[in-house]
Amino acid sequence: MNNTIFLCGFMGCGKTAVGKALAAQRHAPLIDLDSYITEQQHSSIPLLFETLGEDGFRKLERAALRTICTQQEGVILACGGGALVHPATAAMANTYGRIVLLDVPFSVCFGRIAGDENRPLTVNASRKNLKELYDARRPLYLAAASEVIVPLPRETPKEIAERIQTK
Ligand code: S3P
Repeated sequence: MNNTIFLCGFMGCGKTAVGKALAAQRHAPLIDLDSYITEQQHSSIPLLFETLGEDGFRKLERAALRTICTQQEGVILACGGGALVHPATAAMANTYGRIVLLDVPFSVCFGRIAGDENRPLTVNASRKNLKELYDARRPLYLAAASEVIVPLPRETPKEIAERIQTK
């Protein structure tokens, strides 16, 4: 256990924004897993998906999670939406800290991610495809998380961060 807080949830749920607010409130380092991977690999997420395929990207995600957790303590880690879907990865994360799920309705996430060219899974996906992905993932997120936060419609990232338990 090294007190990492893993922010988890579907694309567009607000992990990065809430992560920034949480890190500022707790004077803790913030790592955005996607940014960490793109810096390490000197590449972009769309290019990594294109060259390695989704499975290859998942391997990078798992390795990056492990490296961060073994090297740093007390980090706020904003994870990509698929990073904690695999139960083994979630179990590993839970040995280093705790997983906080931002449980945001699909319609809200979709409004933020539709057509985003930096998210390979949304580029050619229909609303129906993304809803199916959301529905398949949500039970896995709920199973992995030790805390579930349901943001209110007009709640700011700062207010959401204030609601995340201190321990
Ligand atoms: C992904 C989510 C993205 C990024 C990649 C894959 C996913 O991160 O890791 O495009 O599988 O849900 P965000 O959740 O920050 O958009």
